[in-house]
Amino acid sequence: MSTIAVTGSASGIGAAVCHRLEAAGHTLIRVDRINADIHADLSTPEGRQQAVIQTLQRCGNILDAVVCCAGVGVTAPSVGLILSVNYFGVTEYIAGLTDALAQSDAGSAVIIGSVAASSQVASPHEMAAAMLDGDEDKACQIANDSQAPHIAYAASKYAVTVHGRRTAVSWGKQGMRLNIIAPGAVETPLHQASMDDPRFGEAVKNFVAPLGRAGQPDEIAEGVQFLLSEQARFINGSVLFIDGGMDAMIRANQF
Ligand code: NAI
Repeated sequence: MSTIAVTGSASGIGAAVCHRLEAAGHTLIRVDRINADIHADLSTPEGRQQAVIQTLQRCGNILDAVVCCAGVGVTAPSVGLILSVNYFGVTEYIAGLTDALAQSDAGSAVIIGSVAASSQVASPHEMAAAMLDGDEDKACQIANDSQAPHIAYAASKYAVTVHGRRTAVSWGKQGMRLNIIAPGAVETPLHQASMDDPRFGEAVKNFVAPLGRAGQPDEIAEGVQFLLSEQARFINGSVLFIDGGMDAMIRANQF
């Protein structure tokens, strides 16, 4: 059985991932702002560093997997915060754990991206370029000036997906894997907050997948469990859409 760190463990998809992995017998290290083994704010460099230090202490510098679920949506208190949590809170946490993952026989990671990233595949926003350059101040400045949380959210998910795929290439040489899951609408507090938002609620409600319903958190957790498993040993750098067909609906001819 494995030792697995999960961010965003207190709610929604992260909580479902923990429930499923723990039931399968794995040892979990839960990271969140509250109700977790490690309380850390992944929106700040200090919080990320604390999360890394405490994770390494708990796993004894040997970690089998990390699952990055922590994220904020379009209702976040500031637009820049979306980038700080969804991009830098993922990339810096994983970077800090890479050596510990390399100590495992089969270190792997799963990042929860989003089908929203697809909207920037053809034409990434300058926010995405600043994130991929590792320039948090510049990226957040552009985001806060834009006052466009939906653009920032899509940019954060596009950039974290690209960063994850690049990381998968370098990790592969060490036998380590990294994959991304791109969920569509999933019934969680984040999704509910978006539906209740006067600016975005109508659009979110009208964005319905071909399967005609939103997903359940455990439907994403099942995908995470598979990607971490031995059955997925040749899957690396993939983006697995678990979205009821939304991505196919938006861009059938791009894959
Ligand atoms: P949620 O709001 O239920 O859970 C998010 C968790 O992340 C919470 O426990 C929260 O405390 C934690 N978190 C947020 N900011 C943090 C910070 N600064 N430091 C530490 N922890 C922090 O949301 P949900 O829906 O479960 O989202 C999980 C992931 O799935 C997110 O990355 C989200 O962008 C992504 N996603 C969700 C979709 C949906 O429709 N629910 C669709 C596509 C992607």
